[in-house]
Parts: sequence; C-alpha cells; structure tokens
Amino acid sequence: MSKKRIRIEGREFEVLLSSRRISRRVREISATLSEEYKGKDTLILPVLNGSFIFAADLIRDMDIDTEISFIKIASYRGTTSGFDPAELIGLGTDIRNRHVLILEDIIDTGTTLSKLIGKILEYQPASVRTACLLFKPEANITNIKPDFAGFEIPNDFVIGYGLDYNGYGRKYKDIYVLVTEG
Ligand code: XMP
Ligand code: MG
Repeated sequence: MSKKRIRIEGREFEVLLSSRRISRRVREISATLSEEYKGKDTLILPVLNGSFIFAADLIRDMDIDTEISFIKIASYRGTTSGFDPAELIGLGTDIRNRHVLILEDIIDTGTTLSKLIGKILEYQPASVRTACLLFKPEANITNIKPDFAGFEIPNDFVIGYGLDYNGYGRKYKDIYVLVTEG
C-alpha cells in the first residue's frame, strides 16, 4: 500500500510517523518526565517555532505544574542551523539553581542545542536536560545527545507536527519525510 502523501511548496512528502504513533510516544515521554521532575523546581523551555505542538501536547499530559517560558533563536533560517548566543530571545526568567528542561522538536546536527546548553549553563542552573520528539543520530556533529528522545529517524528532512518547510506544513498531525525522486 502506498503511503499518504502531501505536497508543500511544490515538494512531495510522505508519511513517516502517524499521529497515533506520535501521541502514544508523547504520552510515554510525559510519564517519564513527570516522574523525573516531581517535587523539583523546574523550568520548561520549549524552543520556538518548531516545538510548539510537541510542547503543547507533552506539557498538558504531564502530571506536574511547572513554569514554562518559550524561547526563540532569532538567527535560525533555512534547513541549516547555528546561532550567536546573543540572538537568544525570551530567557528572561531566573534560572539559577533550578532544573531546566529544554524541549525541541528535532535535534539534527546538534549545533543549536549545544550552543543553547552552553548559554543556559552560564546562569548556573541545578541541571539542564533536553527532551526532543525527533533525533537524527547520523546528522549529529556534536557530542550532545538528547536526554529524552521520542524517535530516532534517518537523516532526511521532515515536516508536520510543528516542523515546517519554509514556514508551511506545521499543522499536520502526522510527520512526513521529503520524497527524493529518482
Ligand atoms: P540542529 O542542526 O542545530 O538543528 O540540531 C536544530 C533545528 O533545525 C531545525 N531542523 C529541522 N526543521 N525539518 C524541519 O522542519 C527538519 O528535518 C529539520 N532538521 C533541523 C529545527 O528547527 C531544529 O530546532
Ligand atoms: Mg526548532
């Protein structure tokens, strides 16, 4: 049976992870995180834009109430990454001695996360850990790995469930992978 396809900005994408699989996995991660952070002074920092749907589903499913502050890296563009720490927006809240949990949609080369963790450590938190929905192990060029990862996926471009192609495709409930013809 052929996989469900969508077309965005002239490119073809086919289903990689169904919304059912995603929901099931998000519930598992939320249960793990609820245990890990129970009774701790926790600050959750979802990284905009891509993590907004993952964060909304995950956090609402967690058993604990924590402070949540969205952050954004201003310089991110295209399908490559890396940023100057000065371009970090939204880190206004006090981090010192608190348990920080970064939420990412996807960890690709790991460059963004590695710089982000470096920046957060300057504020002397009690701990910094990362949960991501998707992790591309083959693309990782840093020694940083997510502490909690939903799915390990091949090194291909994906969209849906918050992830975009030129700003489009974020609304889809499934996650799709770019179809490379030929
Ligand atoms: P790095 O390479 O620094 O990248 O780990 C992390 C950020 O890059 C974006 N990214 C993607 N966005 N489909 C997307 O829609 C992808 O396949 C993809 N790979 C990386 C994403 O914003 C992530 O935060
Ligand atoms: Mg992102």
